[in-house]
Amino acid sequence: MRIAVFVSGGGTNLQSIIDAAESGKLSAEVSLVLSSKSDAYALERARRHNIPAVYLSSKEFQSRDYFLHAMFDVLDEHKIDFIALAGYMKKVPPEIVKKYKNRITNIHPALLPAFGGKGMYGMRVHQAVIEYGCKVTGVTIHIVDEEYDHGPIVAQKCVPVSDQDTPETLAERVLAIEHLLYPQVLEWFAQDKVIVSGNIVKVSQ
Ligand code: GAR
Repeated sequence: MRIAVFVSGGGTNLQSIIDAAESGKLSAEVSLVLSSKSDAYALERARRHNIPAVYLSSKEFQSRDYFLHAMFDVLDEHKIDFIALAGYMKKVPPEIVKKYKNRITNIHPALLPAFGGKGMYGMRVHQAVIEYGCKVTGVTIHIVDEEYDHGPIVAQKCVPVSDQDTPETLAERVLAIEHLLYPQVLEWFAQDKVIVSGNIVKVSQ
């Protein structure tokens, strides 16, 4: 499986996926890293591992069509057959979602459908969880559809929230779980173990 990881920020999830692929825990190749931000540290991480690293933003294109074509071109050029969103803060164009049906996943730092949607990313999610008074939060990995943080859920893990937690301490514990869960879920896809029927996802053993 040739994976493109889409990023916008620091790329610690990207790093966990690269490390899993390099150590053989993940039987897939990270063949492309695509960033919506030119200065994302994730691009630097990719370059350090000799992985093609591309900045692609609709802002740099005259029209949506040109942007879309550029995205299709880069995915084709690198023969990508799976896309993993890892801190990618943009919506994936519906045309790409359609072409890669059930082959795009996203990781979200809360238990969806709570605390998701447009504007709910990174530290804002943890802030909202604490402000709501939740006693438990977690990680969700789901298949991407046309909406933000939406689509069939593949895996979830819980993380307890303590009274002492700040968004930063909570983010750290949630991230640690993300780094374990994402490579594992990608391995299920690499081994063709994921069965999607409607909104229900099952993983064959
Ligand atoms: C991660 O916590 C990821 O779950 C979150 O952004 C962070 C990216 O960190 N994604 C979202 O909030 C998506 N709505 P990273 O760049 O260090 O992997």
